[in-house]
Amino acid sequence: MKKFHWTKPGKYFSNKSLAQKTRRFFHPQTIYPDAAADKTLKSGVFRVDTHVHTRFSDGSATVQQVENACLSMNIGCCITDHNEIRGSLMLLDQMKVPTIPSIEIGSKEQIELLIFFRHPEEAEDFFRQYIEPIRRNYRFSFLPLSLDYLAEAASEYDTLICLPHPFAPFWKNIEYGKKRREVIFRTLNHLDCIEAYNSTATHKANSKSLALCQILGRIPLAGSDSHAITTIGMAGIDFFNRVTSDNLFDSIKNDQISRIFENETKLRHVSNTCRLVLNHSKNIVMNHDPSYLSKRKFTLHKR
Ligand SMILES: [Fe+2]
Repeated sequence: MKKFHWTKPGKYFSNKSLAQKTRRFFHPQTIYPDAAADKTLKSGVFRVDTHVHTRFSDGSATVQQVENACLSMNIGCCITDHNEIRGSLMLLDQMKVPTIPSIEIGSKEQIELLIFFRHPEEAEDFFRQYIEPIRRNYRFSFLPLSLDYLAEAASEYDTLICLPHPFAPFWKNIEYGKKRREVIFRTLNHLDCIEAYNSTATHKANSKSLALCQILGRIPLAGSDSHAITTIGMAGIDFFNRVTSDNLFDSIKNDQISRIFENETKLRHVSNTCRLVLNHSKNIVMNHDPSYLSKRKFTLHKR
């Protein structure tokens, strides 16, 4: 278990009004200057949206569209498709946008985890061993395995394991039912990060997520959970240093995060949330190139 540490909330929140709304969870209120945004204008990428979906799962944007959107906004991006690694590896292979191999997996208790890998080879191996043989088109985002088993399997690799949207509504809420609470308790030791801000969740839910993150002393992440091209970059994290695909994993692991940023209106928030709920309820058609992984050079560096 990691050592408890209390972080100044202002360090992570970029929006003053949001920080004020969440005052009861944190003190003191210190809003840090928008240093990372100034740096972005100068050169390099300092900002990353760590939670984006594409057509490889239930999103509507292609990898190319995600890449173009990120280039136009000068941000990095982690493609975290449900039980699918190919989109993430395609973005990495194109070498234009800072990214790391990542995936969102769901357990039989209907709790999800974001897994970030240091090496693409390990991401491929994890996907082939644990995900591909058992995933299904119907209720595609959940696997018939328990959360603690999946987290244990992922922690055998060089990974960062993140609990996304812990207090979002419906099946995404970890407090929803005794079984979920029990399995989350068993999985806590494997968690490196907690998604402290998710664009589809309410401010109240995000405040609770950040509080949980600080109480447990985990690294805070943030992402748009975008399922459409228009919602990419609605939220994410700013770094003190310039990030590339080579140093992004270590920048997160070493907590080089300067703050959480969010860039959303009520309309965009509602549209993003509705799309997420609708897309989750339909069956997915796996119509992408199944041979993509075998085209990549495959060398394994398992710990
Ligand atoms: Fe997601």
